[in-house]
Amino acid sequence: MSKSPKPGYTGQRIDTEDEWYELYQKGVELGTWNVEKLFEEIGFERDRESWQSLEPRERDQIRYLLSGFLDGETEVAGDAATNLSRVMGADCLEGNTQKEMFMTMLTLTEHKHTQFIDIYMNEVMCDRDNYTELDPREGTRVPIVQATGLGEVFERQGLLTAKAAQTRDPVDIARAATNYHLNVEGVLARVGAGAISRFPERADFPLLNYAFKFISTDEGRHITHGVELLKELLDKERAGEPKFQGVEEGIVDTLYKDVPYMADFGYMFTDAVDDPLELDIDQVLLRGSNLIDGMYNETLGCDVDYRRVMDVVGDRYDEIWEWDIDSRLDDQQAHYRRKRSIATDGGEG
Ligand SMILES: [Fe+2]
Ligand SMILES: [Fe+2]
Repeated sequence: MSKSPKPGYTGQRIDTEDEWYELYQKGVELGTWNVEKLFEEIGFERDRESWQSLEPRERDQIRYLLSGFLDGETEVAGDAATNLSRVMGADCLEGNTQKEMFMTMLTLTEHKHTQFIDIYMNEVMCDRDNYTELDPREGTRVPIVQATGLGEVFERQGLLTAKAAQTRDPVDIARAATNYHLNVEGVLARVGAGAISRFPERADFPLLNYAFKFISTDEGRHITHGVELLKELLDKERAGEPKFQGVEEGIVDTLYKDVPYMADFGYMFTDAVDDPLELDIDQVLLRGSNLIDGMYNETLGCDVDYRRVMDVVGDRYDEIWEWDIDSRLDDQQAHYRRKRSIATDGGEG
């Protein structure tokens, strides 16, 4: 983490020398962009015009990608507010108070990301049905997210963070942080944001692009937190502390287990939908691989085997090559419509 000058004061309960204190302060200072102000200053008009000018397949691709963000931001906000906040108080972690302080910033920014994307999709891309009244917090994700494998990553995120909150065990914390901070924030969100940053090649979405600059900066702090947290656990494992043995294995194993589901989503916003925006699956995969190599191998000093990661992706592609995404989507929507009729008339209608 880059060091800024320490303040010349400290507290009795709060350690101003702690790196998480610094990260919290950065959040206080830089994470304060205001979603409503952005709507006021830039407005929806240009983005709406661009949306109207696109072909239906182009719209589908953008909507799929943003739907992943809509559900992803909702899920990370929920898990941060509950499970991760509890994890930060674990006895096995250093500087609990500062980590808990940082988690409030993380939670706030994730809610802001949800706020932006939800309102943006509703105001700009109105031709959609997200079944939100069925409650996304209970797993009613956007149909495309559920029809592809992405919903599984969030399912795993909920399970892993809940387990870590309950046991507060170093290996469980390492697994949860790997899924949440490295795979969801560090790979999926970064690759997705990279694709969004290329929309201007096709059409101009000033509001979306401006907001994603802020979102990406926020995510940078979240990823730093995750990487530093994992370093802390790994350092103790490598120093031979018995309670921490198994941390590295937990990190690497979580990656191999998450990769197939992460690969599904990459596939869905590229080849399988004809890739009208030319986001290019090979570029997406290359970016994902570089991010994995940078975080896991270079920064954390783990030994992730590239060929094995790519083999997992390749095997998964062979499996889903046969999918008819439109019929999977129809099935998911039919399922939600049934749920909706049960919710409104108790299944009588
Ligand atoms: Fe976010
Ligand atoms: Fe985040």
